[in-house]
Amino acid sequence: MDHLKVALGCDHGGFVYKQKIIDYLKARNIEFVDVGTHTREACDYPEIARSVTELVASGQVDRGILVCGTGIGMSIAANKIRGIRAALCGDTYSARVSRAHNNANVLCLGERVIGEHLALDIVDIWLKTGFEGGRHKRRVDIIE
Ligand code: RB5
Repeated sequence: MDHLKVALGCDHGGFVYKQKIIDYLKARNIEFVDVGTHTREACDYPEIARSVTELVASGQVDRGILVCGTGIGMSIAANKIRGIRAALCGDTYSARVSRAHNNANVLCLGERVIGEHLALDIVDIWLKTGFEGGRHKRRVDIIE
């Protein structure tokens, strides 16, 4: 997991958790790009989703993490981008299976929905879990 490069983004509704995720990544020497937002001032989540997903879709980073109030706006916006498989996760099982079965390359979280420790567990599992391939690759290929 320490060879991964991750792009991170949030709107004002996800600002606190983005900082917590940055702390998590720094503690594990995981390389990251923080596209913002960098203040608590209100901003538009689709712009942030675009910045992160462009980095993922172009291969400049391996994975993206997006945080807003619910994670819903970010996931809707992210999944508009070709090549992006964004998973909104509120539990660790979904986080693991979104990687193992769906090869999700973007994780979306809702800061107003789940607690901080759960959010960080989800990030941990999501970053550590690999894609199983096989029959799941066939299904992901159909999406693509
Ligand atoms: C911002 O108030 C809020 O709408 C946003 O963070 C997010 O929840 C959108 O889906």
